[in-house]
Amino acid sequence: MKILVTGGAGFIGSAVIRHIIDSTADSVVNLDKLTYAGNLESLLDVSDSERYAFEQVDICDSMALQRVFQEHQPDAVMHLAAESHVDRSIDGPATFIETNIVGTYTLLEATRQYWQGLETARKAAFRFHHISTDEVYGDLEDPEALFTETTPYAPSSPYSASKASSDHLVRAWSRTYGLPMLITNCSNNYGPYHFPEKLIPLIILNALEGKPLPVYGKGNQVRDWLYVEDHARALYKVVTEGVVGETYNIGGHNEKQNIEVVHALCELLDELRPMQTPVGASLLAINDLADAQIKHQPMRSYKELITHVQDRPGHDLRYAIDASKIQRELNWTPVETFESGIRKTVEWYLGHADWVERVKSGAYQLWLDKNYARRNDKP
Ligand code: NAD
Ligand code: DAU
Repeated sequence: MKILVTGGAGFIGSAVIRHIIDSTADSVVNLDKLTYAGNLESLLDVSDSERYAFEQVDICDSMALQRVFQEHQPDAVMHLAAESHVDRSIDGPATFIETNIVGTYTLLEATRQYWQGLETARKAAFRFHHISTDEVYGDLEDPEALFTETTPYAPSSPYSASKASSDHLVRAWSRTYGLPMLITNCSNNYGPYHFPEKLIPLIILNALEGKPLPVYGKGNQVRDWLYVEDHARALYKVVTEGVVGETYNIGGHNEKQNIEVVHALCELLDELRPMQTPVGASLLAINDLADAQIKHQPMRSYKELITHVQDRPGHDLRYAIDASKIQRELNWTPVETFESGIRKTVEWYLGHADWVERVKSGAYQLWLDKNYARRNDKP
């Protein structure tokens, strides 16, 4: 099979491509615009493969998409390209509407045109797999409830509303034009190559730099965490074995409050990279201690850096996935527990300071300044 992966230079897309090249005989065409979130260095382990090709293309560019389909003749599309960060969608929704809605529409039309021209057997075997999020379901008020594939959509943020819109478009193209599609809705991913605007890498990197660890509001919001390589395996199973027209929810059975996640990260860092003296200038500022004092009074734990800041507007309180359908029908279960996955993740960031330095470009620093300055260090 040759699979066209959109957004393959991103966090999850790069894990999917590494999985396909390392663990299958299939070929990949990585189609990515390379926004701030796209990084080809995440693919260095596989990009020399003869089964890997890259196309720098915007999914909103219809002509370029048609060229890519004609040149590469894929057997399936895995559509991950998106604007993915909720806080950025609140700050500036326009690119979310453009990429997630108009881009998905443009990709669907280019796919349809190509798919309709395929010969009968290839046309029947073709798959369009749309990768979506549990955030389309809104938040769960009942503490016992779980999102199933039939939970009604109730998105809360510009990001989740744009993803919900794209899901509706994909289902409409299936029902109206017969495009053979599958949709997956997954919970929060974490793991290697995660862009450090998101909670887990942000906390690890801030801690290592001795910066405050910003927890929105009380930190009692619940997310259901899945190790990214488990997600990548699930996605490959769905595109190769899933039933056309079906939706599969994917989750890790790891519901945690944000504050619990931050505590777990601090405890792992305390073990793996205990705070040393002398410490950096930013740490001095936080603790308002003189250098001489700090040398004799090292901080006991990274937890002392936790700072409750202003909450995210419209913040969903709880997400939790019922992943029984994909487990039952496709025999997929996550390999990693939260404990094993979070340890691997912290170890990966400790061992990849070079990757971290390169993704923390000037533009990323500007975003940090904007997002956290306005939160004003108050819950
Ligand atoms: P990411 O932000 O890390 O990567 C997105 C990728 O898409 C980047 O490589 C970027 O360059 C590319 N891209 C953005 N706009 C583009 C455009 N117009 N044309 C072509 N490429 C473009 O995102 P991620 O966390 O890897 O998420 C991937 C997908 O999975 C998204 O659709 C997201 O909604 C979904 N998802 C993410 C999570 C999660 O926890 N991260 C969970 C469930 C679902
Ligand atoms: O549920 C799936 C979704 O998970 C994906 O669709 C999104 O693309 C992905 O970004 C993620 O969304 P979240 O908003 O849940 O992820 P984020 O890492 O931004 O935040 C996780 C939780 O931590 C959330 O409740 C907000 C909180 N948070 C986040 C940041 C960045 C903080 O408390 N402090 C922070 O500085």
